[in-house]
Amino acid sequence: MDVQKIWAVYFSPTGGTRKVTETVTNTLGEVLSLPVEALDYTRPQARQQFYSFQASDLVVFGIPVYAGRVPNKLLPDLKKGFAGNGAKVIPISVFGGRSFDDALMELKQILEAQGFRPLAAAGAVSRHSFSQTLAAGRPDREDQAQLRSFAQRVAQRLLAGEDFPPFTVPGNDPVGPYYTPLQADGTPAKFLKAKPETDLGKCTHCGACARACPMGSIDPKDPSLVPGVCIKCQACVRKCLRGAKFFTDPQMLSHIKMLEQTYARRAKNAFFEAGH
Ligand SMILES: Cc1cc2nc3c(=O)[nH]c(=O)nc-3n(C[C@H](O)[C@H](O)[C@H](O)COP(=O)(O)O)c2cc1C
Repeated sequence: MDVQKIWAVYFSPTGGTRKVTETVTNTLGEVLSLPVEALDYTRPQARQQFYSFQASDLVVFGIPVYAGRVPNKLLPDLKKGFAGNGAKVIPISVFGGRSFDDALMELKQILEAQGFRPLAAAGAVSRHSFSQTLAAGRPDREDQAQLRSFAQRVAQRLLAGEDFPPFTVPGNDPVGPYYTPLQADGTPAKFLKAKPETDLGKCTHCGACARACPMGSIDPKDPSLVPGVCIKCQACVRKCLRGAKFFTDPQMLSHIKMLEQTYARRAKNAFFEAGH
C-alpha cells in the first residue's frame, strides 16, 4: 500500500461536517496505523492558502450541502486552492436530512479536476444548520457505526492492495441547478439577502460571532454590523453563548418550517465504492 498519511479536510461552520469527516479519517488512521492531520478549511485565512498534496496522501474531503450543491461561495476557493497530484480522496457531502441532490457529483468532479483520485464517496447526514429538530443529534451512534464500517472497508481494500476502479455517484452530470427553497405554502422562499440580527441587550461584544463567520463578514468592533456577504451558515448563531444572534427573515423562517414538516423521517447515509 502506497498511502503514508491521512488528511481530514473540511469546511464546517456548525461542526457537523467536521464530525463526519473526522470519524472517517480517524478510523482509516487506526486501521492503517498511519498519521492523521486535520486541515480546517472553514475560516477565510485558511482558504487563502494553497494546498499541495502528493500521491502518498489519502484525503477525506468533507463539504456541507447548500441548496443541493457545493456551497456556491466556496467554489472559487475549492477550484483554485488545491493540487491533488494523484492523492487519493474520499469526497463526502454532508447534508441536513433533506437531500444531497447534485452536491456529491459536483464535489467529486471538482476534486478530480484538481488532480485527486477518488477511491470511494459518501453522502452523510448531520443536523440541519437551520433547525433544532431536523436531523437533530446526527451523526448519532448509528451514523458513526456506518461511517466507521465504510472507512474500515476502504482501509481493508487498501491493505489488500486492491484496485479502486472508477465509480459513479448520484446526481446530474453535468451538475444541475441549485435547489429552490420553498415556503410552508409551497411558493419559493427568497432569502438570499437575509442577514443575522443582533439582540444588543444580550450581546457583550465578545467577538465570537465575528471570529466564527467563515466569510469574515461580521464587524469585530460592532458585531451588529454585517457588511459582508452572509451564506446563512448559522456559525454566528451557534457560537453565540448568549443567544444574541438570530434570523427574522419571514421567508427563511417559513422555509425552515416547511423543511421540518416535510423531512421529519430518518434520512439515510449513502456510500459509493466501485464493485460494492
Ligand atoms: C444555506 C444552507 C443550505 C442548505 N441546503 C441543504 C440542502 O439542500 N439539503 C440538505 O439536506 N441540507 C442542507 N443544508 C444543511 C447542511 O447541509 C447540514 O446541516 C450540514 O451538516 C451543515 O454542515 P456543518 O454542520 O459542518 O456546518 C443547508 C444548510 C445551509 C446553511
